Amino acid sequence: MAQQHESGSEGHQGAIPLDGGCYDPPVSDFRVPFFRPHIDDDDVAAVAESLRSGWLTTGPNARALEEELSAYCGAPFVNVVNSCTAAMQLALAAWEIGPGDEVITTPYTFVATANVIVHLGATPVFVDVRERDFNIDPAKIAEAVTPATRAIIPVHFAGEPCDMDAIGEIAGAHGLKVLEDAAHAIGTEYLGRRIGTISDAAAFSFYANKNMTTTEGGALATADEELSERVRSLTLHGMTRDAYRRYDAGGAWRYDVTSIGYKDNLPDPAAALGRRQLARLEWSIEERTRVALRYTKNLGDMEHVVLPWFDERHRQAWHLYVVQIGESAPVERDEVIRALAAKGVQTSVHFIPVHTFTAYREMGRWNDGDFPVAEKLSAGAVSLPMFPDMTDEEVDYVCDALGDILRGRFRQS
Ligand SMILES: Cc1ncc(COP(=O)(O)O)c(C=O)c1O
Repeated sequence: MAQQHESGSEGHQGAIPLDGGCYDPPVSDFRVPFFRPHIDDDDVAAVAESLRSGWLTTGPNARALEEELSAYCGAPFVNVVNSCTAAMQLALAAWEIGPGDEVITTPYTFVATANVIVHLGATPVFVDVRERDFNIDPAKIAEAVTPATRAIIPVHFAGEPCDMDAIGEIAGAHGLKVLEDAAHAIGTEYLGRRIGTISDAAAFSFYANKNMTTTEGGALATADEELSERVRSLTLHGMTRDAYRRYDAGGAWRYDVTSIGYKDNLPDPAAALGRRQLARLEWSIEERTRVALRYTKNLGDMEHVVLPWFDERHRQAWHLYVVQIGESAPVERDEVIRALAAKGVQTSVHFIPVHTFTAYREMGRWNDGDFPVAEKLSAGAVSLPMFPDMTDEEVDYVCDALGDILRGRFRQS
């Protein structure tokens, strides 16, 4: 069985192409993979029907998915695109964020969050996270605001929402945009409100291992119609009408190009898959919650393991289940990962702090030690297998393997 990892995370990668488009040969047949996609006959039929329909690029399925996402998360406007990365970059571009502007975000994220800021010529300003939930610390955001700050990008780590009230207050006081990196958080609720309705815009990921997938894909949710329309144009080269809208109204072929846009649209067969996946999203989150609760029950008393914290006032969508291997554990985190792999358990690490990557080091703005909480969390983090079809037996196997390893019984028998 092939396994898929979050792009950029450590660990074994399976035979399915990752973001870089490379194929890594499978290293071993994992007994419990990090992730196993749930693709059923309805998904396959929906994609086949779309392929046979004669409309392959962005079209009726993409439009329907936008409406269904809008109904699901309560956001009046949704734009589907080909990744969460694209959704974030398009929103920042639509707000004309560029050279001379600063955007505050967390170093404890996938590199995409920071890359989109850099691509637009703006400057990412990292602030550290809170130890308890790995999420950006609002107190530190407030300290980092300067006259050049234009926006804040909080990241809802693992599906646990950031403190959006505090972030909204800071943004309101300084006239800043808030763009949620909700790659992990479709279905997350913040004080009873689904992500997608809380800030200026939220970007979702439908990457292969996300809570719902379009293979690759993403969406931007917003209440701002002007933003949505601008993003729609920027998604397709800055054109005033996309292909579907050019041909649907009886051959209205003429269009203008009003800005220099991108090529980030979502193909219709991918959207057809997304519609089926969205119809099953609640089931998927319920099953992920079952897995998370079983991990929590099994690992609750295990020495040297710090469990993920979550706030019961919210609904955690459980994209990831990330434990910390305590600093006083007899086995180091890297050894725990190796030993789990030897026992047939595939894991990952979320995240390697962005400022420690070579490309970011070479910018000369950050040093090791600048974000001590993020660095400490990253050094101890292990993302355990998490997927909706994971059986209770598989969860128990992972927990038993971890227990054996931490008690020093970590050689493969
Ligand atoms: C926190 C976070 N932001 C953004 C992304 C990028 O998502 P995508 O691959 O859909 O561009 C990811 C990716 O997997 C992520 O984990």
